[in-house]
Amino acid sequence: MQTKIFKTDDNSIAEAGRILKDGGLVAFPTETVYGLGGNALMPDSVKKIYKAKGRPSDNPLIVHIADLEDIKPLVSEINDNAKALIDAFMPGPFTVILRKSELVPDTVTAEMDTVAIRFPENETAQRLIRAAGVPIAAPSANISGKPSPTRASHVIDDLSGRIDAIIDGENCMVGVESTIVDATGDVPVLLRPGGITYDEICEIVPETVIDEHILNSLPEGEKPLCPGMKYTHYSPEADVYVVEGNVRAVRKKINELLEQNSDKHCGVLTMSRNTYNDALIIYGGMTNKEYAKGLFANLREFDRLGVDVVFAELCCDDEYSMAVKNRIYKSAGHKVIKTLDL
Ligand code: TXA
Ligand code: MG
Repeated sequence: MQTKIFKTDDNSIAEAGRILKDGGLVAFPTETVYGLGGNALMPDSVKKIYKAKGRPSDNPLIVHIADLEDIKPLVSEINDNAKALIDAFMPGPFTVILRKSELVPDTVTAEMDTVAIRFPENETAQRLIRAAGVPIAAPSANISGKPSPTRASHVIDDLSGRIDAIIDGENCMVGVESTIVDATGDVPVLLRPGGITYDEICEIVPETVIDEHILNSLPEGEKPLCPGMKYTHYSPEADVYVVEGNVRAVRKKINELLEQNSDKHCGVLTMSRNTYNDALIIYGGMTNKEYAKGLFANLREFDRLGVDVVFAELCCDDEYSMAVKNRIYKSAGHKVIKTLDL
C-alpha cells in the first residue's frame, strides 16, 4: 500500500477526513503523541488499526471527538464526577472512561462495557475529526511495543506502507500519552498518568485514587483495569536501565555501569549537567515535564545511532514524575537501579 503524506492545509485535511469516513486509516498529530485513526463506528476500519499496529485485539482503543456534544451518543451514563472532570480537562491531554452505549462497536472496546473518550486540544487533530464527521478510534501510531511517536517522521518509520495516509503536522508538545481516568464508579481511578497530573485531578475530584499498577510490573496472571498495561511498551532496540536518585549518586552509579559495560556502545539520557566519557549523551531536560516531552523521541534517537545500552538518569521528583516513571520503567522492562540518596 502506498501511504500518502499530507500537510495540514484545508484541502489535505478535507481529503484525509474523507479517507477516515470511508473506513481508511490516517495517522495524525495530537498534543500528546501521534494517533493512528480509523472510523470508530465501522468495525472493519477498527480491525485494520489492530492489524497495522500489530496490536493484540484484547487491548481497547480510545475514541476521539472534537465537540463535547459528541460524547453523549457514545455513552450510557455520565455521573457528576465524570461531568466535572470533562468540564475541567476537555479538550486536553485527558481521557475519561465511561459506560458505553450500543453505538460503540465491541471491536473498539475489546468487548468491555466501557469506552475511553478523548477530546484532543491540538488544532490539526480537531480539524481532522470534524472533517471526518465521525468519532475516530485512535491508539498511538507506533508498531505495538515500540516507543510512541511524537513526530511525523516516527510514524513514517513505523507505519509507511501499512496505512492510507499520514498527516505531517507539528511535533507533539506533551510527548507522553493522555492521562486516563476511569469515572464509571463512585470514586474515579487514575489508570494512566500523563499530561494532566494527579494533583490537578484531585483539585477537581479530591477522592480520586491511583491504580496500584501504575509504577509496578504486573504480577503473573493478574488482570489490569487498563488492558494495555499488561503488554511490553515503549521499548527501543537498546537495553534501557533507569538510574534513580540524587544527581551525585546517579552520576557515580552510571560511571560504574559504563566501566562495567565498556565493551558495548553505551548512551546516557541525562537530566543534569553531568557529563560522561565514552558514552553518547542526549540531554533530556531538567524537569520531568521537559524530560517527558522528548523521552520517546530520545529513545528512538539512541536506536538510530546504534546504541546497545541506555542509562537513563532520573533525579528530579515533582508532580510530573509519575507520568515519566510509568513510561520509562516500562521502556526499561522495570530494570530500575535506585541509588542511595546522599
Ligand atoms: O494520548 C493518547 O491517549 C493517545 C493519543 C493518540 O490520543 N492515544 C493512546 O492510545 O495512547 P493507546 O491505544 O496507545 O492507549 C490507550 C490505553 C490502552 O492502555 C488501553 O488499554 C486503555 O487506554 N483503554 C482503552 N479503552 C479502555 C477502557 N474501556 N477501559 C480501560 N482502559 C482502556
Ligand atoms: Mg500506545
